Amino acid sequence: MTMHAAIYDGVMRPVEKLFMHELRRRLVGTARGRVLELGIGTGANLPYYPAETELTGIDPNEGFLERARQRAHALGRPVTLLAAHAEALPFADRSFDTVVATLVFCTVTDPLQALSEVHRVLKPHGQFKLIEHVRMPNPLGARVQDLVTPLWKHIASGCHLNRDTLSLVQANGFQVESVREHLNGLILEIEACAL
Ligand SMILES: C[S@@+](CC[C@H](N)C(=O)[O-])C[C@H]1O[C@@H](n2cnc3c(N)ncnc32)[C@H](O)[C@@H]1O
Repeated sequence: MTMHAAIYDGVMRPVEKLFMHELRRRLVGTARGRVLELGIGTGANLPYYPAETELTGIDPNEGFLERARQRAHALGRPVTLLAAHAEALPFADRSFDTVVATLVFCTVTDPLQALSEVHRVLKPHGQFKLIEHVRMPNPLGARVQDLVTPLWKHIASGCHLNRDTLSLVQANGFQVESVREHLNGLILEIEACAL
């Protein structure tokens, strides 16, 4: 099932107010240079990028991209938006200073291939910044996530509640420089750099 862009923004509104707004502001506000955002969705991060960054966003969902286009226009924020998957990025090697992904690695079909693509398009020592919900450190919480994920994937456009994105990033060509935990480790802010 593919989520509609208007529904997504409505569902996220209370979450944004509660804490995502602050996480986005902190993570995205320190992006620099040529920036690629993966799974840009409806453009929820657009207000937080420093004005001097040169921004490109990709997403496979045209409805989301249209919403991001409208938001960028309303903000007067130049951005290049393209329909693409994180697993096959239509960009040259070493072409970005920063790659951003927020609430995306739970959903990409092949996270290892997507990480390999992020590594390929980042310049050496480029920044990789993520906000992701992940498999919880608490065994009971993780067990519940394992049980719910098969159903949740169908309801929420392929979203996995139990993906260990931090370990995947650490094991696939990135040095993790900082991790901030929220909600008992359910949500992580991850800052890494390409090795
Ligand atoms: C939960 S939404 C997050 C949207 C936005 N990043 C945010 O923070 O609000 C997940 C996004 O990932 C996108 N997505 C799903 N599969 C993807 C893939 N293989 N490559 C890139 N983006 C993908 C979806 O279309 C959707 O826009």
